[in-house]
Amino acid sequence: MSIHDPTRGDLSVTPTTVAAIEFDAETIAGAVRRLADEVVRDLGGEPFILLGVLKGALFFTADLARALPTNVDATIDFIAVSSYGRADRSSGEVRLLKDTSESVEGKNVVIVEDIVDNGLTLQYLQRLIGGRNPASLRTCALLDKPYRRRVDVPVDYIGLTAPDTFIVGYGLDYQEKYRNLPYLARLHDWAFAGEGRE
Ligand code: PRP
Repeated sequence: MSIHDPTRGDLSVTPTTVAAIEFDAETIAGAVRRLADEVVRDLGGEPFILLGVLKGALFFTADLARALPTNVDATIDFIAVSSYGRADRSSGEVRLLKDTSESVEGKNVVIVEDIVDNGLTLQYLQRLIGGRNPASLRTCALLDKPYRRRVDVPVDYIGLTAPDTFIVGYGLDYQEKYRNLPYLARLHDWAFAGEGRE
């Protein structure tokens, strides 16, 4: 009898819309551990805020926090943003849906992003948080699509370079679905039903 791990989902029931798993749960976990080590190497001796960017970085932020040594002085906060009308992303307009709960002034802040694509969301966040006089500001992204960048933004820690395809899972969505998948996957073309993928 197989034991179902509730934190990993049931891998025997992959959605039919999933064409391929690009990064499985073990690969993601390995990248998260490495990123936690890198953050601790740079900041472990000082208190810092892990500032997760909702909704995409929900699971990444939680797993990154749990991968830190227990004696590290880290707090967790969230900010929520959304690009204006996904089809319209080139406008570069980012909406602030939820601000931080704690003040970042005088604090070490690590922005935790699931993915940096064209970079406009991160540019907005770095300007917003950077303008509030944090002691330091770094960015940690699980996934990077450097070949898609439209603006030059610094990303201090990068987990995995994503393929040039639309991927879902581990927090990333297509029309709000698939965020709960424990892996990062590519969908069949027919899953998009002729609609915009962004
Ligand atoms: C996604 C992702 C990043 C951003 C990256 O968020 O989580 O925050 O887009 O894209 P960019 O580099 O091209 O700006 P989205 O606006 O889809 O919201 P979500 O996290 O709630 O899915």
